[in-house]
Amino acid sequence: MNALPGLQPRAGFVPPSSGAGTVHRRIRVEDKSIINSKADVNQLVPFKYKWAWEKYIAACANHWMPQEVNMSRDIALWKDPNGLTDDERRLITRNLGFFVTADSLAANNIVLGTYRHITAPECRQYLLRQAFEEAIHTHAYQYIVESLDLDEGEVFNAYHEIGSIRDKDEFLIPFIDTLTNPAFKTGTPQADQELLKSLIVFSCLMEGLFFYVGFTQILALGRQNKMTGSAEQYMYILRDESMHCNFGIDLVNQIKLENPHLWTAEFREELTGIFRKAVELEYAYAEDTMPRGVLGLNAPMFKEYLRFICNRRCQQIGLEVMYPGASNPFPWMAEMIDLKKERNFFETRVIEYQTGGALNWE
Ligand SMILES: [Fe+2]
Ligand SMILES: [Fe+2]
Repeated sequence: MNALPGLQPRAGFVPPSSGAGTVHRRIRVEDKSIINSKADVNQLVPFKYKWAWEKYIAACANHWMPQEVNMSRDIALWKDPNGLTDDERRLITRNLGFFVTADSLAANNIVLGTYRHITAPECRQYLLRQAFEEAIHTHAYQYIVESLDLDEGEVFNAYHEIGSIRDKDEFLIPFIDTLTNPAFKTGTPQADQELLKSLIVFSCLMEGLFFYVGFTQILALGRQNKMTGSAEQYMYILRDESMHCNFGIDLVNQIKLENPHLWTAEFREELTGIFRKAVELEYAYAEDTMPRGVLGLNAPMFKEYLRFICNRRCQQIGLEVMYPGASNPFPWMAEMIDLKKERNFFETRVIEYQTGGALNWE
């Protein structure tokens, strides 16, 4: 192979297709594809997937760091024996118990899995930013645990020790393993479906469903003027995650567009079963974190909410809605995220981005 001087072929380097040209033939937009591309992945331009590049720019404009958030009121409230009820404390520790490891799973899935299989450099650019944001999220959860002086061993081991959390993670692991398995390669319809399935599970179910009980709980605390520093951290994280979810959904829809043969009736039916299982697991987590009503929330309200969100994810990727008529019992959550930020390329090109690190919420 004619490599550039000093540039040896490496993981992820895909030489341009030979044919009549040479290996140095310039990339054409039409050579690019989201998966199984023959174009050189080292060349960002010419752009083909402008939506991915725009999301990368928007994500960078939303940069924030956990230490910028003042945690002193949360610390005082947590230390005050009368500051919070036992149910509120249980909710907070179980909530963190899921999130402290969830974003490490997400980061590993991107870096060791997804990134290798996506051959559009503008999408890789977004994934690099997303990976860093997952690191910031893990940092934020650790920062809350440290600020409140919680038992690190208990919180970080919750995904082993608390059944409702372990079940969610065990549901995800096989889909992560598919992508991170060094022997896994795309390029056959079956393998491409496996990739697509894992991408759908991650964007629609991990980032698009499994985070929502937890986000709603902490934001409900914040709305009652409790744990406002933690709630602010979660708001920043939620803003990032909304974009991760939307990017993942755009990615899925673009792969579908380029590979319509993957979207078979059998495949859609399999996905529906997976979605149903995820709704059950997240509902079990809601019951476990809220055995009684707390903060004006209770588990049955989340049954409706999760069905509502699941319907939305189905619609976003072109599946039949699974729970017709489900409505949103938390319209304030919709105001915070769904309406303002949950727009994606395939629904509308009008996206309202923050231009700095600041955000407004009440
Ligand atoms: Fe995250
Ligand atoms: Fe994420």
